[in-house]
Amino acid sequence: MNKDFDVKSYIKDFPVLSQGSQEKKLVYLDSAATAQKPQQVINSIKGYYEKINANPHRGAYSLSTSSTEAYDESRRVVKEFINAAHVEEIIFTKSSTEAFNLLAYSYGMNYINPGDEILISIAEHHSNLIPWQQVAKAKGATLKYMYINDNCELTSEEVKNKITKNTKLVSVTRMSNALGTIFPVKEIIEYAHEAGAVVCVDAAQSIAHTAVDVQDLNADFLVFSGHKIMAPMGIGVLYGKRELLDKMPPFLFGGDMVEYVYEQNTSYADLPFKFEGGTQNVEAAIGLKEAIYYINSIGINNIEAHVQDLLQYAHEKLKKLDIVTLYGPKEPSKKGGIISFNVKDVHPHDTSSILDSYGVAVRSGNHCAQPLMRYLNINSTCRASFYLYNTYEDVDIFVDAIKNVRRWLGYGS
Ligand SMILES: Cc1ncc(COP(=O)(O)O)c(C=O)c1O
Repeated sequence: MNKDFDVKSYIKDFPVLSQGSQEKKLVYLDSAATAQKPQQVINSIKGYYEKINANPHRGAYSLSTSSTEAYDESRRVVKEFINAAHVEEIIFTKSSTEAFNLLAYSYGMNYINPGDEILISIAEHHSNLIPWQQVAKAKGATLKYMYINDNCELTSEEVKNKITKNTKLVSVTRMSNALGTIFPVKEIIEYAHEAGAVVCVDAAQSIAHTAVDVQDLNADFLVFSGHKIMAPMGIGVLYGKRELLDKMPPFLFGGDMVEYVYEQNTSYADLPFKFEGGTQNVEAAIGLKEAIYYINSIGINNIEAHVQDLLQYAHEKLKKLDIVTLYGPKEPSKKGGIISFNVKDVHPHDTSSILDSYGVAVRSGNHCAQPLMRYLNINSTCRASFYLYNTYEDVDIFVDAIKNVRRWLGYGS
């Protein structure tokens, strides 16, 4: 247990968590879907509209300059957060989903050729799967899958077997949103590079828990969404190595991404603006900056350790309940802060609704990972996910509520 982690001092920063009563506390266990926002982030958005609001990069007047500076500063903060080499390697998108689509349409449609192989894992979120299906179909390439083993891990053997001389692009998650499994992305990147392939890392989940150093990973591309790290919705990031981004054509055409426009032809702006057509979500970029400041003030390693403590504690308790089936690696140390489970004979949507009546918010469904569910021979699961504002008490309430699920439906126990 990390005794130095004073979770109570952080909980007070999250206004939404003060809802509920003494008898029925709001136990929010769906941070893998979206994290709650601290007051500091909420204030930064309010402050932006009260003091700065103007369209950046467009005006010569001081308000627009302030907006431009605030937006640019957000990019610098993201660069430091993931240790990118250059600020222009940070492209703001509206989400991870948009970042994958940008990559698929700009890189995939131009640099993947007939006979090439695109490699992903069976555990990918649909946003890191469907865009590659589109590329494979349009370009006559093959979409190949790496499969997980019985313990829901991706082994080195599987990675080595699936990367061939035809592999041109590998896109893989660092942490599965459906199972919590942490994937060996550094190793995957090494093998892929030896075969001459580029690699995109889906950091949508891992970004909230684990420090990212894109230079150390040697990732060619990396994607994440701000809302998973307590920033507002509507802001995402595509990181790309400058030499790769430079050779990619724009994805969205329009204002702000151009240099000169003639009647028949256009020259494009330099990075990163080439990829940021149209008015951007400046308030969300500013919220993202504030969320990163907030994480840095706590220390991402402290957050990771706290979440791991909660995960181990919850695992121990749930393992003892013979009415619960757990999915994912048996060892919590091989996972991020996610527990995927089902209660015996109960549909996950029913479990989720019953838990809600105890104030416990968990996700149920296929977690945008239908091929994974099919591979595991299940339709759906419930998913509890933990973050820095969760406590041991939350886990106790959650587990006690699970014990009551079957009774609600008329089973004896
Ligand atoms: C692993 C993973 N990748 C991608 C996404 C897509 O993120 P967004 O919906 O913010 O575009 C998610 C969202 O849950 C995710 O968990």
